[in-house]
Amino acid sequence: MTTDTYDHCELRTAAWSLGSLSPSALSEREPAMIQLCEYAEATSLPFMCVDAQSGCILARTSDDLLELLPWTVQSQLSNVTGVRLIELSSGLVFYALPLPSVDDMPTVAVGYVLNTGTGERPEEVQELAESLGWSPDEIDDWCARQQFCRPEILERLLVTVFDSTKHERGLEDEIGRLANEVQRTYEEISILHELTASLQLSRTPLDLAELCLDRVYELIGAQGNAIIIDNWKQRRHLLLKGHLPLDDSGFQRIIRRFETHNWSRPLVKNHIDGTLLGSDFPGLRNFVLVPITDGVERSGWVMLCNLPGERQFGVVEASLISSLATIMATHHRNLSLYQEHQDLLLQFISSLISTLDAKDPYTAGHSERVGRIGRRLGEELGLPEEDLDDIYQAGLLHDIGKIGINDSILLKNGDLTDEEFTEIQRHPLIGYRILKGLGNIQKLLPGVRSHHETYVGRGYPDGLAGEEIPLLARILAVADSYDAMRSDRPYRKGMPPEKIEEIFRRGAGQQWDPRIIDAYFRANDDIREIGNGGVSSDDD
Ligand SMILES: [Fe+2]
Repeated sequence: MTTDTYDHCELRTAAWSLGSLSPSALSEREPAMIQLCEYAEATSLPFMCVDAQSGCILARTSDDLLELLPWTVQSQLSNVTGVRLIELSSGLVFYALPLPSVDDMPTVAVGYVLNTGTGERPEEVQELAESLGWSPDEIDDWCARQQFCRPEILERLLVTVFDSTKHERGLEDEIGRLANEVQRTYEEISILHELTASLQLSRTPLDLAELCLDRVYELIGAQGNAIIIDNWKQRRHLLLKGHLPLDDSGFQRIIRRFETHNWSRPLVKNHIDGTLLGSDFPGLRNFVLVPITDGVERSGWVMLCNLPGERQFGVVEASLISSLATIMATHHRNLSLYQEHQDLLLQFISSLISTLDAKDPYTAGHSERVGRIGRRLGEELGLPEEDLDDIYQAGLLHDIGKIGINDSILLKNGDLTDEEFTEIQRHPLIGYRILKGLGNIQKLLPGVRSHHETYVGRGYPDGLAGEEIPLLARILAVADSYDAMRSDRPYRKGMPPEKIEEIFRRGAGQQWDPRIIDAYFRANDDIREIGNGGVSSDDD
């Protein structure tokens, strides 16, 4: 292998250095040069790269090769598609093999041998040598250095080399084609994988569409890329990447124009220039249009248009866009189902709360305020939006266990006996038991069960302390305490915020998590406003 490479390079260097007329026209990476060196290497014969039209020699692999070709040879070099031998009566046999073009200029690999071993000076050489100004001795020396070969053997050798080169080229082309296909398939799979991995419910259809546009633009390279999302947050959205020669209304017109198309297949239009369609949509040369649909409902469209150069849209592009559209449609559908599910859950929670409020009208609204105060505290603590929703819902449900407490105790005006207080203390566990069978609200349960735990571990029902108490419950403990102290009761007026804040300062690190009390003081203006919903209008 090393030797081959060395020989190859050596030949290439020779060709470079001896390129007689325009060596700079042929780079060493020029396919014609590579092929020329391969012919020379495989046959051990000298070759020159010749412009097939003009007969001009562009490069040579041997110093001994002539710098001019006889006219009879030059005139036979056009359209060389295989091995061609040109025998001159003088005893010189020229051979020609096809080469790749150089800058659209057809080129041929040409060489020659002497077909006699007599050492006689061929006539043609005599003429050429004289035109080059060689002396008779130089001509004789040159003839003595040339190779001899019978034409039939030469032809057999060249045909073998040419066929094997052609076969190799065919294989290389096939391998190149397959490699491109594998590369493209890999990129497509990567995109589909990336999109599939990005289908979290927290990602909106617009986020996903942006990601699709970026990836499709990188992979396919169309000049215009657009996605329409028909209805997200009660609005239509048009997302673009690159330049689309259509505005929103043009997009709509083109969709209407093909409304009878069978949309179970992508719509692919190439060669639009000069057609009726092209005149109605100037600047549009080709496009592929695919609906975003899960087979039941359509939620938008994907359109790619104007591939660069002569490229046209085909099955590969159409299939990829269809796959992306299906992923987007599925995600959209999942989001809708999730939203329906969340709405149902909220309705369920609110009917539970209504049940509790009907039973204990004095605390009506308390759960809602605890949810809102808890949410504001969570926001102050920098928690993500999803957690804030959970805090709010856990706040709504935190006292739901009171449904299971006897009315005579729950609604008692006045001090509770020890037994009654013990009974009341059962409500976090009752609430926990009511809700624990509902798979969808498991994450809210710590708030329901542990909102009466205290930071030093003297709370109930489990006597947890410090960080053992789930954060959700520590937040609700502050929210619940604030609203309970602030709200009016039949047997007492609600406390003013200043007094509650004094209690909070004393209780930070005792009853409540000091970090959450700090958050309260940072957000106390907002929380006071929420808490005012629990006091009578003449109270403040
Ligand atoms: Fe409670």
